[in-house]
Amino acid sequence: MKEIGAEDVADFVKNGDRVAFGGFTPAGSPKVSGIAIAGKAEAEHAEGKPFKIHVLSGASTGDAIDGALAKAKAVASRTPYQTNGAMRDAINAGEISYWDMHISHFAQQAREKIFGEIDLAIIEAVDISESGEILLSTAVGMAPTFCKYAKKIAIELNEYHPKKIRGLHDIYELSSAPNTNPIPLLAASDRIGSETLTVDPKKIVGVIRTNLPDQARPMADPDADTDRIGENVARFLVDEMRSGRISKQFLPIQSGVGNIANAVLGAMSIDPAIPTYAMYSEVLQDSVIAAIRAGDISFASATALAVSEDCLAEIYGDYDFFKSRLILRPEEISNHPEIALRLGLIAINTALEADICGNVNSTHVLGNKIMNGIGGSADFARNSHISIFACKSTAKDGKISAIVPLCSHIDHSEHSVKVLVTEQGVADLRGKDPRQRARAIIDNCAHPNYRDLLNQYLALASGGHEPFSLTNAFRMHETFASEGDMRRTSWTSRR
Ligand code: COA
Repeated sequence: MKEIGAEDVADFVKNGDRVAFGGFTPAGSPKVSGIAIAGKAEAEHAEGKPFKIHVLSGASTGDAIDGALAKAKAVASRTPYQTNGAMRDAINAGEISYWDMHISHFAQQAREKIFGEIDLAIIEAVDISESGEILLSTAVGMAPTFCKYAKKIAIELNEYHPKKIRGLHDIYELSSAPNTNPIPLLAASDRIGSETLTVDPKKIVGVIRTNLPDQARPMADPDADTDRIGENVARFLVDEMRSGRISKQFLPIQSGVGNIANAVLGAMSIDPAIPTYAMYSEVLQDSVIAAIRAGDISFASATALAVSEDCLAEIYGDYDFFKSRLILRPEEISNHPEIALRLGLIAINTALEADICGNVNSTHVLGNKIMNGIGGSADFARNSHISIFACKSTAKDGKISAIVPLCSHIDHSEHSVKVLVTEQGVADLRGKDPRQRARAIIDNCAHPNYRDLLNQYLALASGGHEPFSLTNAFRMHETFASEGDMRRTSWTSRR
């Protein structure tokens, strides 16, 4: 195959093009093409020419794509997810059009060209044959769909990853409705597709050689609160098992992204009452690999191996051990509602804030500033056997209560949120009416500094089915915006 440089890839990209990057999170994302396209954008801008592209990717990427392109003001639109500071700032400043969406819906919408034609797909590979057989690296994400529908494909052949990982991936694609068959996956470890992705070799414009690790996001060390959250989740699950609602063999776990998710898995590993379990998740973080090594997790399925460089070195260093315990699937399969339901997943995701009715906001600070996006959280929460949301009870040194009268943005409604957990405790919302849910959340999850305030709200929001006061519902948010501290909130007596 023709070898090219990253600048040659940039030459293929024109102002207004739609460029799809492989990978999922920094895992498996192309390493050099995004930087080269950003460089081209800066050069074009310096000459007074417009240059912005529409960016698609499996989910977030790393600084080499989202960061570089956002800083170069080279992005017209972005979907379905991002976590990058520069990208986030530009979106919140209204400079980039961004719509976050359910990860499980993305492939269908790409097949239907909701976003238009893909001009170029850039995919990271570990190996490629002349006939277009591609061995992917640390993620599958949207690579199969992007490659099928893109007009052109560029391959970043990353020699950092060993070819022995052949077998890590399981590529299975869905047909469009009404010809969608049941997905024949009955256990997290089932293999239903092929080890490699085959693309039309005529579409490949060139291969760029790289030798670079994924730019994994560093995790914060667990603190006393995240440890307590983890313990609370673990204790709740043990109680569910003892009650018989979760079988003694346990159920597969889906775990969200971030520091709290890491702490929850850590706590589950420590709890001797939790049996060995499988993961069926979207991304696998370091804590999963540690738990596999310790024998706490028997098998892990996801779309991305979003682990630190050291952790990946451990996997590659002992691949004979890990190869029978890991699988990466397209994100349409890792996040598919059909599988979440069939396997009876225990879904554990993170909230920014939750309200006393049980709604959850995972995405927008004070209602209007995007943090990351909904990602796969709702794919799992809505369709799991039991959906748990966890967060710290306060943020910003206690000036923000994560438990509020009404979320300033709602990603997961009270109908999808079954259990809420903070470092304060656990609110089991199942089988409770709105007032009982409010009682459970205030008593068990709110920080003690905010319980009186929330109880006062509950009292004045009486009448009707749901505790709700039109004039006070966002008063805690308003107080933070105007006075910098929700503890200063005072209520009006008007409903
Ligand atoms: N209001 C304002 N800011 C808040 C807040 C609130 N109610 N709650 C938390 N924050 C801030 C924190 O202070 C922190 O800010 P910083 O970056 O300036 O320190 C930031 O939000 C992240 O909080 P943190 O406690 O570190 O949480 P996290 O790393 O576990 O991430 C989410 C939490 C919700 C942002 C993250 O899980 C997410 O993006 N989820 C949506 C997508 C998803 O769930 N994907 C997984 C599906 S498989």
